[in-house]
Amino acid sequence: MNRRLGVLISGRGSNLQALIDAIRDGRLDATIAVVISNREDAQGLERARAAGIEALTISHRGWPSRDDHDRAIARKLRAREVGLVCLAGYMRLVAAPLLEAFPNAILNIHPSLLPAFPGVDAQRQAIEHGVRVSGVTVHFVTSELDNGPIVLQRAVPVLEGDTAETLAARILVEEHKAYPEAVGIVLAGGWRIEGRRFVRSATAASASPSPLPAGS
Ligand code: GRF
Repeated sequence: MNRRLGVLISGRGSNLQALIDAIRDGRLDATIAVVISNREDAQGLERARAAGIEALTISHRGWPSRDDHDRAIARKLRAREVGLVCLAGYMRLVAAPLLEAFPNAILNIHPSLLPAFPGVDAQRQAIEHGVRVSGVTVHFVTSELDNGPIVLQRAVPVLEGDTAETLAARILVEEHKAYPEAVGIVLAGGWRIEGRRFVRSATAASASPSPLPAGS
């Protein structure tokens, strides 16, 4: 598989940083070809530039439609010969032109055990619902929000006295391990999508077994 990544961000970029660090440390065999933000003030743009990675803003404002914005992003990613797109805190729905340009080649990271708590503020939703375990999900992006085939999940316990903020911080630690791992699994190949399931061949799974949930 083409190991050139395009990372889409909207803000802080700590998951982008986790990918940069994993590549630098030799834990992930990939290259980040370009980072694109829809917001000019995204901190992640600075992280990319500090690592010598091309960092662009393509604002979502000023386009006739969402499709036009996504078409512009797809063109840039194509021009950089990107093979896998990683959404990392990218706060936009992905529209058809981008999905069609990268079929089964767009990943997202979400701070809950999907299908529980999709959408914004997943950690607060978990606290308010009173679950005892939450976690992180890396999944393929489809036209439905936070609903594509799941590549990898890690559980994180909800502790007595947790707030949305303390839980988010504990989940974030797992996110930073999970995203590079999931990207490595996808880039290694030997998988297929069956319905809504991500299925790895026995050889691929034994070469890099899925991680155990946190705490096990
Ligand atoms: C993370 O919690 C990620 O799971 C969610 O948005 C947040 C982005 O954080 N999709 P960062 O920008 O990667 O620091």
